[in-house]
Order: sequence, then C-alpha cells, then structure tokens
Amino acid sequence: MKNVYVLGNWKSNKNPQEAIAWRDIYLQHTNELPKTVKVILCPAYHHLSLFDLSTFPSLLGVQDISSFDTGAYTGEIAASMVKGIVQYAMIGHSERRKYLLETDEQVGQKVKKAIESGIIPVVCISDIEQAKKLCSFIPDYAGKGLILYETLTAIGSGQAGTPESANAAAKEIVDILGAVEVLYGGSVVPENVARFTSQQYISGVGVGGASLNAEKFIKIITNAS
Ligand code: PGA
Repeated sequence: MKNVYVLGNWKSNKNPQEAIAWRDIYLQHTNELPKTVKVILCPAYHHLSLFDLSTFPSLLGVQDISSFDTGAYTGEIAASMVKGIVQYAMIGHSERRKYLLETDEQVGQKVKKAIESGIIPVVCISDIEQAKKLCSFIPDYAGKGLILYETLTAIGSGQAGTPESANAAAKEIVDILGAVEVLYGGSVVPENVARFTSQQYISGVGVGGASLNAEKFIKIITNAS
C-alpha cells in the first residue's frame, strides 16, 4: 500500500500568538488524526520551538534549507542546525524560485546538504524540466526524498489542477526519477483532497493556504486517508 502524506506549508505567515493558537487547536484533535496519514507540518523556523517534539503527533519540516554548511553565512539555516528537530526540508518551492531567484543548481546543492544531514528533502517542482534537472544533479534521488508537484496556476488560486492531469504528471516524474513518491500541491482543500490522494501515482498533498486554519487542515488530513 502506498504512503499518504499531507504536508502543511505555512509559508511566511503567523505571529507567535497565532502559531500557538493553531497548535492548541490541533492538539485538541490529536485523536481524530488517521494513523495511516503522515502529516508534515512546515512552519517558519522560529515557530519550531513551539512544538514539543516528545508529544507532537505529527512530523515537522522546514520550508527551505541552506546550500552551505554551518559557518559565516548570515541568516542561513544549515541542515545540521535543524537535524533532530525536523525530519523533512522543503526545497525549491516555486515562490523561492520566483522571488529569490533560486536555481536548479542551488536546489541540487540544498538537496545534497539535506541528505548528508539525514533530513528528507521534499523537492518542489512545477514542470517536468525541473524533474529532469534534479535527476541530472542527483541521479539516485528516488528513495532519498519526496517530490511536491505544483503547477503555478494552481498555487493559491482556488483553481486546483485536475486529479487526472496531476496523476499524469506524477507518472512522468516517476518515469524520470524512478520510484519516487509524488505529492500534488495547489489549492488543495478538504473537498478535493481525496480526488488527488486516490490517484495511482499521487502519494499525498502539499497544502498552503488551507493549512493555516487548524480545523481545515485536520479535515484535509482525515479526508486524505
Ligand atoms: P496553496 O499553496 O495550497 O495555497 O495553493 C500550495 C503551495 O504553494 O504549497
């Protein structure tokens, strides 16, 4: 049976009070979370300390990781700095590629750093070319990390792609990278999540906007299973 992942990407949102309020609602619903779904919450770095690692029922991730080791790189967070706190690192989200001009080379470098530190990369791609580039940098990526496939038009628009086209893209990605687990992202909500997770080549979803509301996020998790 395939794994089902639900990755929540808070992006650049929430002050500490809002993050605490979200956490407290989420914790009240711990019993409702299906054991079959792997939930990866990716808040901003400074929110990570709000989550008690010994009791938090889900996995944690960061939204980015440095392409450098520790050292004189002001503002960067190296993979080894969050090792033991998070299990996953999102890398190369389309917003970082667009606004911070992150390149495929940097993505490849970040993936290497994450893997070296024992953190599982979740490489975000919005077209097949980016999958090919990843394959050229890390030919054995499958088995080492996940892919989050998100078309640019679907992100934050309320217009999710069709499950069938997402499945076809996921199959193409598997054809390129080998047996990699592919998540779909872009306007996932409680009402449409099952249509994606029921597709043969889709192993879960990445959720931006709808992850900001704890109740909505929990509905997505329960509907994903
Ligand atoms: P969205 O964002 O769910 O708000 O569309 C998805 C993403 O960018 O990860």
